[in-house]
Amino acid sequence: MHLKPLNGVLGAFVEDVDLSSPMNADQQFLLEKWLGEHGVLCFRQQNITPVQLREFSARFGTLEINVANSFQEPGLPEVMILSNILENGKPIGFQDAGQSWHTDMSYSSTVAFTNVLYALQVPVRDGEPLGCTEFCNTQAAYEALPADIKNTLKDMHISHDFAKFWDMMRLQKNSSRPPLTEAQRRAKPPVIHPIFPVHPITGRRVLYANPGYSVRIVELSEADSDQMLDYLFKHQTEKRFHYRHRWQVKDVLMWDNIGTIHNAVADYNSNEHRLIKRCQVMADRFQELSV
Ligand code: SIN
Repeated sequence: MHLKPLNGVLGAFVEDVDLSSPMNADQQFLLEKWLGEHGVLCFRQQNITPVQLREFSARFGTLEINVANSFQEPGLPEVMILSNILENGKPIGFQDAGQSWHTDMSYSSTVAFTNVLYALQVPVRDGEPLGCTEFCNTQAAYEALPADIKNTLKDMHISHDFAKFWDMMRLQKNSSRPPLTEAQRRAKPPVIHPIFPVHPITGRRVLYANPGYSVRIVELSEADSDQMLDYLFKHQTEKRFHYRHRWQVKDVLMWDNIGTIHNAVADYNSNEHRLIKRCQVMADRFQELSV
């Protein structure tokens, strides 16, 4: 197994590995180290079944079963289907998953560690892949913050709310998301995490904020918090922290949800098909985000 890092702030290819074969503890250790260091790992030309996707992903922590309980691989609720394909007029997968900057499960007291996605269909127009996934490096974003901002915010916390992203996605044209009921909102109250936790693999600090779910810096007034969050969102999504993954069919892509934020680019039409299978791995092995 070899690592081929990209030149930029995130991203590496892992070569000479077949994810359909069981992995040993040394390989797993190495992959986690590379994941922390490079944020996004791509394994090209993989031939894996949904069961093998689940088995590989489960090496890294407990797999989340999505609350919506729909668009799951038959018999494998941990494998979610992301797609714009309709069969008999009905969607076969989540059509708008992740289509704005966010990090997964920051609204949960146990946050997400990594996502593992397997591409089966990638839309292509004029030879260029569409439906890319973009990432920003939150370790580099923390390090590049001005010292006075780091100092002012250092012991503060951010509250993250599931409803923020959901409600925002409902405003998109043709959204099929129903409004959240009061019971659903109550079942997912906002949770609080430190603003600059230590990354469990690299030991570097992270700017743990994201435009999708972060709603308030708890220790600031609402107006000051809004202004600061605005600043932090602009800062962390600057091009210098950016990497864009251009999908190929048979890519397995694995990313670190603590050290990155991501955005699924919705630049393809309904007749340009995208089909991806996805497992979400929780950070339960690392307990809470620590400071
Ligand atoms: C996600 O946010 O997990 C979806 C990413 C993608 O489909 O590119």
